[in-house]
Amino acid sequence: MSDITEILIRAERLHQLEKAEIVALLANRVDDAELFGVADRIRQRYVGDEVHLRGLIEFSNICKQNCLYCGLRRDNQDIKRYRLEPEAVIELAAKAKSYGYKTVVLQSGEDVYYTVERLQTVIYGIKDLGLALTLSLGEKTREEYRAYREAGADRYLLRIETTDRQVYDQLHPGMSLANRLRCLRDLRDLGYEVGTGIMVGLPGQSQESLAEDILFFKAIDADMIGLGPFIPNPATPLRAAAGGTFELALKVMAITRLLLPDSNIPATTAMETLNKQGRTIALQSGANVVMPNVTEGEYRQLYMLYPGKICINDTPAHCRQCIGGKIAAINRTIAQHAGFRSGKNLGQL
Ligand code: 5AD
Ligand code: SF4
Ligand code: FES
Repeated sequence: MSDITEILIRAERLHQLEKAEIVALLANRVDDAELFGVADRIRQRYVGDEVHLRGLIEFSNICKQNCLYCGLRRDNQDIKRYRLEPEAVIELAAKAKSYGYKTVVLQSGEDVYYTVERLQTVIYGIKDLGLALTLSLGEKTREEYRAYREAGADRYLLRIETTDRQVYDQLHPGMSLANRLRCLRDLRDLGYEVGTGIMVGLPGQSQESLAEDILFFKAIDADMIGLGPFIPNPATPLRAAAGGTFELALKVMAITRLLLPDSNIPATTAMETLNKQGRTIALQSGANVVMPNVTEGEYRQLYMLYPGKICINDTPAHCRQCIGGKIAAINRTIAQHAGFRSGKNLGQL
């Protein structure tokens, strides 16, 4: 039996891995199908064949931060900025509901126009629709997170991006890993379902640091873990960077499923950007969530984190139908409930 097979057998039973074992899986170039098969089996056993759809609303591309990799960074003068007013966001959420989504995800840059008061308006409006609500608004104070939670937000996504301090500091001028960790801790304390994640293939990121990232997801027992390849954006200082690969991002995702068997793991848009079948392959390698875009019109194009982003010329109705087809084609079903990690339902919140 190969070393890789042995590692996988143990991981499937115990959902634990040493750092060196994770590095061995990442470095391995021969038996990846075996890894993906084990991840798929664990996904099936713990979270079943249902795929949870989360309707993604990208409501503002204005950001005060300057992350080196991101097209929304404040120094990027090459994009037209937009923000939707609270009423328009609620309207999109209502449409998302009409397409059958049970959860909406509100995502934006760190846009100071969106004060607690304006967000409360949006959160109340969306909770009145009976939807589960995930926020992805970046770093805020504990008091702000508390206010959103009290207004009714259920979940919060904040990728750690990398746990490697040196890489983190290089990519995030004026930000700190310590504050990001503080945010994740506050979110957990406040009773959110907490999502995090990373980009794979960042400049300076090693296999060891990817292994540390995966162990971090396990250590904080993340409820959701979103991962994608880093895709260099020509409108950013990292335009000439090598970028990540679909294959490595998929491996990091599959190993994450080994360690967090009942977490919610999306098949991400960035994966499909690098591989036409990326989300389908991810759903068969450990993922159980998809986040179709429900943003409308030109805003889709303007929310340009990285180039080549899929669906920028498609409508929400088209994406809903498209993703439904992909899920049916692999004999999976679309969940008809909110899809909390531990099967909690909205009534309990
Ligand atoms: N390539 C891939 N993902 C990116 N993100 C931002 N910029 C890029 C890029 N160039 C991701 C970050 C962020 C999420 C919203 O988008 O991980 O958390
Ligand atoms: Fe702003 Fe987020 Fe982009 Fe950083 S990754 S520049 S915080 S939108
Ligand atoms: Fe948007 Fe397929 S999900 S076109």
